[in-house]
Amino acid sequence: ARRRLILALESSADDTCAAVVSSEREILSNVVLKQDQIHEQYGGIHPLYATQGHMRNISTAISEAIRRSGVAFGELDAIATTEGPGMKGCLQIAMVAAKALVGTSGLPLIGVHHMQAHALTCCLTEQHPPLFPFYTLLCSGGHTMIVDAQDVTRMRVLATTNDDSIGNAFDHAAKLLNIPWAGKAPGAALEGFARAYEHRDEHKVDIESRVQTYRQKLRVPAPSQLMFSYSGLRSAFTRLVDENDAGELTRVALARAFQSAAVAQLADKITLALSRAPVKPSSLVVSGGVASNGYLRERLSRVTSDHGMNIYFPAPALCTDNAAMIAWAAHYKLAKGELADPATLMPRSKWS
Ligand code: KG4
Ligand code: ZN
Repeated sequence: ARRRLILALESSADDTCAAVVSSEREILSNVVLKQDQIHEQYGGIHPLYATQGHMRNISTAISEAIRRSGVAFGELDAIATTEGPGMKGCLQIAMVAAKALVGTSGLPLIGVHHMQAHALTCCLTEQHPPLFPFYTLLCSGGHTMIVDAQDVTRMRVLATTNDDSIGNAFDHAAKLLNIPWAGKAPGAALEGFARAYEHRDEHKVDIESRVQTYRQKLRVPAPSQLMFSYSGLRSAFTRLVDENDAGELTRVALARAFQSAAVAQLADKITLALSRAPVKPSSLVVSGGVASNGYLRERLSRVTSDHGMNIYFPAPALCTDNAAMIAWAAHYKLAKGELADPATLMPRSKWS
């Protein structure tokens, strides 16, 4: 088959993204324009400001993605955009831009499912991609779910969150502990903060014993149910922070206890899903923003090695929101001729 080139746009949350990816798995450009600083002061993504940020950044993202790719616009085979799920006003910006590009160029338009793209990222990035069927654990600000990926399009959700996502729980915890975001994702800031004093012997034992005490107050939900729940952890953690002093050692121990409880739930539910699997999948692919967490990687690697499975973590830069994954998912659709009609394609804020 001829080598094809897709320009994809993504603006479902707070990053404005554009990328050019070839059908031969080459990421020719991958532009991500962040606006974390704007949202730091609100302790979360503010939909109106996020939309304005996309409005400001979208044309720069597109021109940079084209320029860095070294590809001329005329060489492109299709334009892709995230169709959903995500914040409607945010989704609209990339989608309208994609429709404008399609309108002027006559190129085909492709709408992509954001979470499916996260789940398929490893097929773009891994030298030896996992074989279907595999399980994917998507853990981001929007989602916490285990998906059984039978093939590229047949994906079944085995577990999802009953309330809050793990990413939001991390963000909330980082805010409660007054950890500065410093340009990082709040979850990443919490992870870095939790590592403080790791190599300082005089505090090590003290912190460890506090972590144990706090951890016991952060119970993991009922082990028999195949679903996630983070609102219980969120409120228990809020109480715990209120009850304790705001000293540095305390906050570090609290951060570690939180991280341990949040990740223990992932490990428990993966174990449960595997115990119920009629045919054991060969691999577990962990993606989404929270998958860049080093502690999570260690903990989940132990689970998969206990089950004799492989584990994959797409590179951190591709675990968080990006348009390269949207372009890659769009390649499967282009190959099958699954094109969108620019007149009817609309953002789908909720999409199962
Ligand atoms: O996939 P993503 O970039 O966007 C969504 O689609 O939601 O995920 C963002 C989430 C945020 O909650 C962020 O705080 C969290 O991923 N995150 C982390 C880490 N890096 C990003 N959480 C824990 N540890 C990290 N190292
Ligand atoms: Zn995402």
